[in-house]
Amino acid sequence: MTLRPILIHPDPRLKKRCDRVTEVTDELREAASDMLETMYDAPGVGLAGPQVGLMSRILVMDCVKDPEAEPRPLVLLNPEITWSSDDLNTYEEGCLSIPEQYAEVTRPAEVKVRWMDLDGATQEEQFAGLWATCVQHEIDHLDGKLFIDYLTPLKRQLITRKMQKLKREKARL
Ligand code: NI
Repeated sequence: MTLRPILIHPDPRLKKRCDRVTEVTDELREAASDMLETMYDAPGVGLAGPQVGLMSRILVMDCVKDPEAEPRPLVLLNPEITWSSDDLNTYEEGCLSIPEQYAEVTRPAEVKVRWMDLDGATQEEQFAGLWATCVQHEIDHLDGKLFIDYLTPLKRQLITRKMQKLKREKARL
């Protein structure tokens, strides 16, 4: 397993719609395990393909935050939301591609998601709480959408400017 560098916003790859996965190749399995390792290392609870420059509909997540509890790494290929609750939930979201910036985003509190696993089998599960927020945030990434796209243009611009500054500073190191 290898840690993969995480792209920082703004980056054109974070604004693109990703392609469907048509075949589970060894390369894709390797990418999935690298993405999980990269996510745990960050640390984060979710990571989507484009964040490591992989323009495929793949995301990984594990929202078990209790270090004493058993981890639950999930790899979702071609995830689709098949049902959303009318109940909404507001959560202070962050993103590994927008480090140290957080903002409240309101989304359906529960969603049912269908996806293909690494064995090519179809899975479906209903997510609630942080899992629901996370899976919706990560699926957005596959459509080139970031959590800051839910904010006012002013807030979005402010965060984007901070990230541009951060990238300039990183480039100088
Ligand atoms: Ni994100």
